[in-house]
Parts: sequence; structure tokens; C-alpha cells
Amino acid sequence: MTSKRAADPVIAATGLFTPPHSISNEELVESYNRYAENWNAQHADAIAAGDVDAKVASSTEFIEKASGIQSRHVMDKWSVLDPQIMAPRLPERPDEELSVLAEIGVAAAKMALERAGRDAGEVDAVLCACSNLQRPYPAMAVEIQDALGMGDGFGFDMNVACSSATFGIQTAADFIRAGNARSVLVVSPEITSGHLNWRDRDSHFIFGDVATAVLVERADMAPAAHWDILGTRLKTSFSNNIRNNFGFLNRAHSETRDTDDKWFVQEGRKVFKEVVPMVSAMIADHMNELGLRGSQLRRLWLHQANANMNRLIAHRVLGHEATEDESPTVLDRYANTSSAGSIIAFHEHSGDLEAGDIGLICSFGAGYSAGTVFVRKAG
Ligand code: COA
Repeated sequence: MTSKRAADPVIAATGLFTPPHSISNEELVESYNRYAENWNAQHADAIAAGDVDAKVASSTEFIEKASGIQSRHVMDKWSVLDPQIMAPRLPERPDEELSVLAEIGVAAAKMALERAGRDAGEVDAVLCACSNLQRPYPAMAVEIQDALGMGDGFGFDMNVACSSATFGIQTAADFIRAGNARSVLVVSPEITSGHLNWRDRDSHFIFGDVATAVLVERADMAPAAHWDILGTRLKTSFSNNIRNNFGFLNRAHSETRDTDDKWFVQEGRKVFKEVVPMVSAMIADHMNELGLRGSQLRRLWLHQANANMNRLIAHRVLGHEATEDESPTVLDRYANTSSAGSIIAFHEHSGDLEAGDIGLICSFGAGYSAGTVFVRKAG
């Protein structure tokens, strides 16, 4: 590893917005099971005739054992839990008002700016990097740029599903290396409750809402307490195992087409089996390239989809069963927050590390896509 230069990109600070409402597994399962009972009662004849299958109850034991999730934050709790609605209700706002996705992105961005002691006017670019964009245009990033009062500069949206934030960090770092920007915000607002089918037993427990922000800056501009970026790497490999077919061509399709796949759908077992080796190998290759060994890593901030997946990946990287200190979990309280998961883990569990400590931010998900960002605490 070469020594740091003034124009090298670093992580200056992070920010987090957590919605005030939280839904426990117990509350979620109770709501789903009431919905399933009502549905079975309404379809009793068809079920008895063997035309349709009865809906089977969901269980808190399954959810916690299979995923590690205990609760999730959401923008609107009561409509999600109402068996008649089972979707968030976020009233449409007039165009002149700040969009809800921009609003939570701005909240996270403001925290990152404050922690870095940075004035919004000094930021050159903002990337809105997330899975669930509220609209195609104008870009959410441009609205965030305006709401922050950034003035000159530019913003654009990017969607690489769960890996959006790490892809955003590499993009920001590349802008800085190329001299196209000195200070770049990577904002990941995720209202995943909008794209989740809360009536699907296989996936109704998976997601939560949140927003994160990462401020990437030139080393000579960043505050003293920053994180050197030792290396970033991105990977994609096509798979239909996690998919969302929602889009503007939906209305061009036949109206008789089943709409269940217009939400998040996945083959969870296949994802688990295919992504664990893919990501473990990617991390090992990247470590090799940087001349790092697992024993030199103080902490892993892994994507937060499944605790069992993270246990396996951390074991392969570190060479032993990781402690909670070595590979902290936030999905127990936040569930899967798509691109924001590894950034929440970094935000909440990096303050105690010491100068020289090395860690890895790693995301993975739909595409498939994966990103690795090795960082070292400066000082
Ligand atoms: N309550 C109770 N039982 C349930 C259930 C629920 N909510 N959902 C599914 N089950 C049952 C299934 O019906 C199945 O029963 P069977 O064995 O009698 O057929 C059993 O549990 C196992 O189902 P399966 O889907 O194979 O579970 P799993 O152990 O693979 O766990 C996930 C499911 C989604 C938690 C897990 O596969 C996962 O997290 N995979 C990785 C996903 C990922 O990282 N995705 C990235 C998204 S961004």
C-alpha cells in the first residue's frame, strides 16, 4: 500500500436517518396471519374444491432463525399492519414540496455534513444511489442538491440495487481522483416498504426503511478524523433470482398479466447459495491485490440481508467464526435496508476503532451486484 496523497479520496463522515416507527416480528406476523385467515375464509369453497391453496400462517420463530431479523423501521407503521391495506400510505405531495424520498436523504446528508463540519456550498456533487427511486426524473439527486443549498455542481441518480452505496462510493472516489470533484455526497434513501409485497409470506419480513449518506472528499480537504479508502472494487453478474418488474412499460403489457412480480421477488435459497461464494472470493481477491490478510482486518461492515450469510462470509474472510465486534449486525433492528445496510453498520460501529485500524465495507444483492471498499482509520 502506498502512502496517502493530498488528492486521494477518503470517507470524511457518514449520516443516518432512521424512521421513528418500528414493527416487531410479533406485530408483523399477527397482521399477516389475520390477513391469511380472512383470505382463507373468503376462499373457503375454492380451497375445499382444491382450486386454490389455503394461505399458511407465518411465524416469528422462522423469521428470526432464517434471517436474524427481529424488527424493522418503516415510514408508516399502521397502514402496513392493517390487514385491509398492508402497504405504506404516504400521501402524494405537490410538486413544489420536497419529495418524501429526498426528505429522508436530506436528513441523512445533513448529519454527514455536520459531522464533517462541511458547508453544503462546498460540496461539488451528490449521487442518489439506491434501489428504490421515487420517480424517473427530475433526478432525486438534483432535488437533494437544491434542498441542501449546494448551489453549483451536479447530481444524478444511480441504481445498482443493494450495492448502490458501494458503487456510489467508488464513483465518488473516481471523480475525486480524476479532479472532477473535491467533495461528493453519496445519499441512499431506501423506502423499501413501498416495493415489498406485505401479503407474501416468503418475503413479508425482509425489508425496512432508512436513509444513509457518505461524504467522500479529497484527503487535504477532509476533517482530520476520516477514513482512508485503500481500494474499491465492483462486480456484477446477471441473475434473475432477485427481481422487480415494476416499471413504465407495465401498462404496455397485457392487462391480464399476473401482477405479483411487480414487487420484490426472490429465490432466497438460491441467492444464499450463489452469493456467499461469489462475495467471499471477491473479498479474497481484493485483499490479495491490496496485500492484506484476513488477520489484519479489524472489522467487517457487511451487507445486511441475512445473519447466517454474513456469518459464513465473515468466517471465510477472517479464517475463524467472527465475533459481533468483528462483524456487527444491524439487520436485527433494521432488517434488510437494501443499499443502506452496510453503511448503517459502518456508521454505528466505527467510532471505537483506532488510527491505523483496517476494515471492509461490503455490499451484495440484486443483479447480482457486489462492492468492496477497504478503509483505514486516519490519524
Ligand atoms: N413463516 C414460516 N415459514 C415460512 C415463512 C414464514 N414467513 N416463509 C417461508 N417459510 C417456510 C417455507 O414454506 C419452507 O417450508 P417447507 O420447508 O415446508 O417447504 C421453509 O420455510 C423454508 O423456506 P425457504 O424459502 O427455503 O427459507 P430459507 O431458509 O431459504 O430462508 C430467506 C428464506 C429469504 C430468509 C433466505 O433464503 C435468505 O435470506 N436468502 C438470502 C436472500 C438475500 O440475501 N437476498 C438479497 C436481497 S436484497
